[in-house]
Amino acid sequence: MAANDNREGLKREAARRALDFVEPGMRLGLGTGTTARHFVDLLGEKVAAGLKVRCVATSEATFAQAKGLGIPITTLDDMPELDLTVDGADEVDPELRLIKGGGGALLREKIVAAASRRMAVIVDEAKVVARLGAFPLPIEVVPFGLVSTRRHIEAAFASLGLAGATNLRGGAKPFVTDGGHYIVDCGLGAIPDPERLAATLSTIPGVVEHGLFIGYARAAFVARSGAVETLGRL
Ligand code: A5P
Repeated sequence: MAANDNREGLKREAARRALDFVEPGMRLGLGTGTTARHFVDLLGEKVAAGLKVRCVATSEATFAQAKGLGIPITTLDDMPELDLTVDGADEVDPELRLIKGGGGALLREKIVAAASRRMAVIVDEAKVVARLGAFPLPIEVVPFGLVSTRRHIEAAFASLGLAGATNLRGGAKPFVTDGGHYIVDCGLGAIPDPERLAATLSTIPGVVEHGLFIGYARAAFVARSGAVETLGRL
């Protein structure tokens, strides 16, 4: 089997495990990305077979996918409290701290996670790390004042002893998020104190949100060949 097929298979197994925790009547948050896509597909099969749930999406892409599968989907304003959100991640550390935003949906993902009583993360084993930071940290910024905001971000890194390149996603044709913002990807290599970095980034005007998700995930379903391991407890 090709490596890619194998990885997609692992993502689907992680998604399948999360589905075991979905109960009739639940209000669900649906994540974004290639792993979350598997979860939405599998949920669509259950809904077609009669499962009753109501959902909110973390991106326009997931909204369209869910709608296309006949999954009842509404807005977070219509349903501001959720029972469970299932989403992917770019990195997961042993304390279930996450880097998210590789797919560009981190702002809505964090808002939806914050509206949920529980969040489950679905990943393949390649996403589990001892320390966050090898994956470039996505930071969502307002287009206005980009150069100035980027300098503030770089100064914040320097003040914390962090170094690394900051890259505007998309370069000359910037990637635009569902919220109309840009993303700066920050290759830090390692983030020794994610809480401190998160707090510092949150003080910068122009930073809408950053991809450090701390204190959101209750459990991570990690697919390895042959088994899905659970980190934490949902
Ligand atoms: C979307 O913005 C992200 O937070 C995704 O959840 C994350 O990048 C994982 O995506 P994949 O499942 O595609 O790796």
